[in-house]
Amino acid sequence: MKAIIPVAGIGTRLRPHTLSQPKVLLNVAGKPIIGHIMDKLIASGIDEAIVIIGYLGEMIESYLKKHYDIKFTFVTQQERLGLAHAIWMCREHVDDGEPVFIILGDTIFDVELQDVLRSEISTLGVRTVEDPRRFGIALIENGRIVRLIEKPSEPVGNLAIVGLYLIRESDAMFQCIDTLIDRDLRTKGEYQLTDALQMMLERGIPFSTFHVNNWYDCGKPETLLETNEILLRNSPSPEQREGCVIREPVFIATSATIENAIVGPNASIGEHAVITDAIVRNSIIGTGAKVRHVMLDNSIVGHQADLSGESHQANIGDFSVIKLR
Ligand code: UTP
Repeated sequence: MKAIIPVAGIGTRLRPHTLSQPKVLLNVAGKPIIGHIMDKLIASGIDEAIVIIGYLGEMIESYLKKHYDIKFTFVTQQERLGLAHAIWMCREHVDDGEPVFIILGDTIFDVELQDVLRSEISTLGVRTVEDPRRFGIALIENGRIVRLIEKPSEPVGNLAIVGLYLIRESDAMFQCIDTLIDRDLRTKGEYQLTDALQMMLERGIPFSTFHVNNWYDCGKPETLLETNEILLRNSPSPEQREGCVIREPVFIATSATIENAIVGPNASIGEHAVITDAIVRNSIIGTGAKVRHVMLDNSIVGHQADLSGESHQANIGDFSVIKLR
């Protein structure tokens, strides 16, 4: 089955990191976000992907071509008009009525995808959320979706669509997006996939849901760090470094230099990074970054960045109370 992966977004919530690289190439637990997604897709039998690129798209294209040996089609979304518009851009690459599996490029998940791909009717990944106003919400009766509402302002339910969609009737989906675009029907300024799926429901197309309890958001710095922490739990133990304390779970690239440092827990250290006289925990350190004489917690340090503090010299009398900042 073909996967459709939209990754044209700018990732504004992850600036400054997304000023120089696309969100999906940000590292989490030793691998770019999209790397985690591709590994799952390929393991579940997906052998072809249509990737919708836009902002810094050539970087995504070269990463995917270099690391994955499946058939890719890259489609450029020039104007970022919403998820439905992004999906609509690839209509020429999907055969009439061919089923597709749509997955957002920033949604790392842990579900048995093989079972989902076997579903005979269209089915959407859902999970219960605390703040339904940020999501597309599904209302269910007798195991079938009866209504879909994008980012509701009134509380209608808390079962959110989380970015995984198996669509059997892709022709109907493209027709419904056509209608959204023809009539300029937008929600919150964008052509929303949820609105196109609601239109499909109104046409009588059945939808079921599957639960995605392990869903890891990578959209904001704090959620990226949380996801890093969760995914690191499955990381193999790294090699010990002489004179250093490694507190697992961590990911340390073999080419990284660690000297006189305490690393971890929950730290990802990129290729060729240099950590000297420092403590780094709950943090992501980019490729080639240098970190010296600092104590870092809950931090993201970009590729090739150079962060250094100072060691202090003190001659302090008994009972002194001094706080260094
Ligand atoms: P988001 O709404 O998270 O947008 O899109 P974003 O640009 O990635 O991040 P922020 O909100 O600016 O911080 C969800 C997914 O849909 C894709 C994005 O690339 C992301 O993978 N998308 C969204 C598109 O490809 N095109 C669009 O027009 C909208």
